[in-house]
Amino acid sequence: MGSGMLPAGAYVTLEHEYILIVRKNSRREFKTADEKQNRCESALFWEERNIWYSDVWMDIKGTDQGLSDEVSRLRSAAFPYELACRLINMYSVKGDVVLDPFLGTGTTIAAAMTSGRNSIGVEIDESFQHAISPIARHIVNFSNDYLHDRLIRHFEFVKNRLQKSGPLKYMNKHYECPVVTSQEQSILLNELEEAQEHSNHVPANEQVFEVRYSESPQDMAYIQNWYFEKNMP
Ligand SMILES: C[S@@+](CC[C@H](N)C(=O)[O-])C[C@H]1O[C@@H](n2cnc3c(N)ncnc32)[C@H](O)[C@@H]1O
Repeated sequence: MGSGMLPAGAYVTLEHEYILIVRKNSRREFKTADEKQNRCESALFWEERNIWYSDVWMDIKGTDQGLSDEVSRLRSAAFPYELACRLINMYSVKGDVVLDPFLGTGTTIAAAMTSGRNSIGVEIDESFQHAISPIARHIVNFSNDYLHDRLIRHFEFVKNRLQKSGPLKYMNKHYECPVVTSQEQSILLNELEEAQEHSNHVPANEQVFEVRYSESPQDMAYIQNWYFEKNMP
């Protein structure tokens, strides 16, 4: 608040971002079996969907810019990493191309890498270029931690749900973990195996990264046992 604790004449600070959602033409169609499968593997967990598809997000806070630290830079931006990651997961499927025409420190391409999407970023200010290369060094561990946390949050949700309401009807086939709806049965959060920056034949004012993903689910068995030992139906 502008005037501390003292009343009268205070002004409020702007602490929220607007998100404009626009769509070109009619609803996107997923026609082939492969497209349908990829869409199912890109799905969100039910409890994520209930928060992410709300018109107000109260659980995302602004983050410190932290530009002197390469790892925290991944988390920092004019908008938080979580915001970019959610939107990418809500409005695209794996393998799509995400475009950020105002890239800044690269939050959007980092979130796209975490989410198994291709991405293109454009930034007019060349001084940001030094902030982009560290993404390749840190994105594998950073993303895998993020994906791991998503799974843990789901296990936590399931554990509470089982205790409150009893068995769930469906199982996710990759993680052998209960889920609420049939649409969550194929969710697969592909871990990153390797990320590298290419330098051959790349102009000085461009940067090219390649990320390799695992096709197998991460091994969560030890944690699942801990979560569900006494709760599995
Ligand atoms: C709010 S910042 C984006 C921050 C970004 N989300 C991040 O992760 O750091 C907007 C960026 O757009 C860039 N920009 C402004 N006009 C531009 C233009 N015409 N073309 C490309 N980038 C531009 C600015 O230099 C600035 O870095």
